[in-house]
Amino acid sequence: MHLILTGGHSGLGLELTKMLLNQGHQLGLILRNEKRKADAIDAIGASDNIDFFFADLSKQSDIRQVAKEIISKWDVVDGLFSNAGVLLEQAYYSDQGNEMHFEVNTLAPYILSRELMPALEKAQNPFIVVTASGSAREINNWSPDIPDLKKPAKFVKLTGSYRYSKLALVMLMVHMAEENKHIRIISLNPGAIDTKMARGKGAPFFIKLLRPFVFEAPEKGAQRVYDAAFGDKYQTHTGIFVSSKGEIQHIENKLNSRHLGQINAAIIEEE
Ligand SMILES: NC(=O)c1ccc[n+]([C@@H]2O[C@H](COP(=O)([O-])OP(=O)(O)OC[C@H]3O[C@@H](n4cnc5c(N)ncnc54)[C@H](OP(=O)(O)O)[C@@H]3O)[C@@H](O)[C@H]2O)c1
Repeated sequence: MHLILTGGHSGLGLELTKMLLNQGHQLGLILRNEKRKADAIDAIGASDNIDFFFADLSKQSDIRQVAKEIISKWDVVDGLFSNAGVLLEQAYYSDQGNEMHFEVNTLAPYILSRELMPALEKAQNPFIVVTASGSAREINNWSPDIPDLKKPAKFVKLTGSYRYSKLALVMLMVHMAEENKHIRIISLNPGAIDTKMARGKGAPFFIKLLRPFVFEAPEKGAQRVYDAAFGDKYQTHTGIFVSSKGEIQHIENKLNSRHLGQINAAIIEEE
């Protein structure tokens, strides 16, 4: 299969890259720059089964450009793993003026999915799998505040902008699944995984305390992402959320037209 993966050179994405290569898939890794390509080759070796594409996922024009390059090179995309994400120590703003968690964790997977849609629609049994976090129970009780995601009144590490950006992502994917019945769209929680994100400045102190005892190896997170795409149990479902235990959870909470309007207003359309 021809599979696109973001964040495939580090953390659980790197383990996913290795698993997919072992299965003989053709991979398109979307990486930030040439340095990341060198990192990826260091980690997995050179392979004819990888095509490298470049985009800074915080830049909407980069996402559009990379999607064009992918479509022109491959024509058909069988699956998209939107796995890249950020967990930051303070509010940063993208070139488009959106808080960075909202930009990279919510908008980027949405824009990439939309831009790759023509290539996904040509595949026989296409899928989009996004690496989210948290639980569906929490999503079902959440009142999305998109203006606060775009520009938080008060920045809170992990349990603020990060968490809400992922909840918004899941709800956007449910919305996409309703609009695109041909493409299976699944969000999942990969579990608490010991990666550079979990060790970085964006992780609050309690994560640093818990990490050595509770956090699992990146292979475990990669396996959960892989299973969400290929596991038999998920083949007939779309618009679902898969918990870190592999349970299918349905999202009853829906984005309304006001939310969708606010999200679309944060996306700068090409001239
Ligand atoms: N670790 C956990 O406990 C945990 C729990 C729940 C969900 N998740 C989710 O799992 C996913 C993978 O994270 P991880 O834990 O494996 O951490 P990670 O190694 O830090 O992976 C994050 C990836 O996203 C990429 N990325 C971030 N911003 C980017 C940008 N602007 N342009 C291009 N690429 C960008 C990073 O590339 P660079 O190296 O170039 O920055 C990196 O490859 C994330 O979506 C994360 O939110 C993780």
